[in-house]
Amino acid sequence: MNDEFPDLDLSLKHHAAARRELLRRIAGGAAASAVLAGLPWFSPLKAQPAGKSPSDRVRIGLIGTGSRGQVLLEHLLKTPAVEIAGLCDVYAPSLDAAQRKVGKKVPYYRDYRALLDDKTIDAVVIATPLHLHAPMCLSAFAAGKSVYCEKSLALTIEECKAVAMAADQSPQVFQIGHQRLFHRSALHALSQVKAGDLGPITQIRAYWHRNIDWRRPVPSPDLEPLINWRLYRQFSAGLMTELASHHLHVANWFLDAPPVACVGYGSINYWKDGREVFDNVNVIYKYPNGVSFVYDSLSSNRFHGLEVQIMGPKGTLELETSRFYREIPPPAPGIVQLINQIEKGIFERVPIGGPSWVPDLKKDTKGIALPEDPGHDDGTGLSLAAFASAVRLKEKMPYMVEHAYRSGVAALMGVQAMEEGREVLWPGDYRS
Ligand SMILES: NC(=O)c1ccc[n+]([C@@H]2O[C@H](COP(=O)([O-])OP(=O)(O)OC[C@H]3O[C@@H](n4cnc5c(N)ncnc54)[C@H](O)[C@@H]3O)[C@@H](O)[C@H]2O)c1
Repeated sequence: MNDEFPDLDLSLKHHAAARRELLRRIAGGAAASAVLAGLPWFSPLKAQPAGKSPSDRVRIGLIGTGSRGQVLLEHLLKTPAVEIAGLCDVYAPSLDAAQRKVGKKVPYYRDYRALLDDKTIDAVVIATPLHLHAPMCLSAFAAGKSVYCEKSLALTIEECKAVAMAADQSPQVFQIGHQRLFHRSALHALSQVKAGDLGPITQIRAYWHRNIDWRRPVPSPDLEPLINWRLYRQFSAGLMTELASHHLHVANWFLDAPPVACVGYGSINYWKDGREVFDNVNVIYKYPNGVSFVYDSLSSNRFHGLEVQIMGPKGTLELETSRFYREIPPPAPGIVQLINQIEKGIFERVPIGGPSWVPDLKKDTKGIALPEDPGHDDGTGLSLAAFASAVRLKEKMPYMVEHAYRSGVAALMGVQAMEEGREVLWPGDYRS
């Protein structure tokens, strides 16, 4: 127990248990290093420096104090080792709301370069529209700051490469806002995969469906691009970078590889309101060993909600609802099937059938719950605590650049496949 960071230790206790369980089950060797490669939070979080003065805090500047920026701010304000040292936004109402959350006067800026000029700021958290991620990350590294950048990494594949290279070469810490890396049930799911509970992963299926136009009210027409940036291609790549990037990140992480290629279709088939990004997307990614990641996202029907399903011959893991489903055992002998089918009235609903035939309808089982974090944190709180800790220790987060690059690029491959109507191949490592 570390007296200086009681809150952090509380959450770490749970993660330490997950880690022990994970390592017990995979017991060393190549599998263990593969898992550890996917758990970059181990390194900075395991080594909290004891006995440092409470004033020895990480001074963080938040750039982009809109919707996500304010969620991050709430977590940062609860992180003991952090001091909010500056706020930046070009939109006064966002900046005012963030100032109120902090509750005391902190320097605020309209131009992020002025915040970067403050030599007393150690690190920046970037939560701005996608097209600004690359220029802001590059300027921050050049100014000697550590960087926590919200997903997705950048608007173009070239920018993803440039930011990944800069992050790799910088002595500062870099972290991407893929909070599932720090989500306890995701870690537990990973341990189940590595322990062979699914058999080999044969497919990952993910979807994110909503029935909303994604528009925000705009006080005056000139603010449309600033407020509804997600709908315009100059600032955003739409559903793939805003939503799919999270599940692509899970796929890359659990399969321990980026996709080899992808194909897809997208269109605007419902919200014909001047937007430039697709309102529905369907993309299939091919991973090594013929494993597929099948993705779709709708903006006009929310029947299925969101989920990422990791499937193998022995079971299915659902990460959004945190459940594990064993495959249903083989069919019962013919006579038992016949009795069951008569009792369930199968013959009245299905035109063919018999004891030797089992309808492949969805199995209605509850599955087994995976352990969740206390307070149902989705991983964001621990993710920021890990970042602050890494900055404080001056210790880079292993494999974080790969996580950011692979998911950012995979999302943009999907966009390219749909926009250009062709198969898109993985463009290679950022160093190539
Ligand atoms: N990890 C997650 O689960 C998660 C969830 C939501 C959003 N996000 C990501 O967070 C980022 C922000 O999304 P959001 O929903 O908060 O958008 P938002 O529009 O609510 O907020 C963006 C803010 O950036 C400000 N901004 C725009 N240009 C700026 C500039 N030049 N300098 C400083 N500030 C500027 C805007 O005024 C706005 O306040 C996006 O990249 C998004 O994908 C991540």
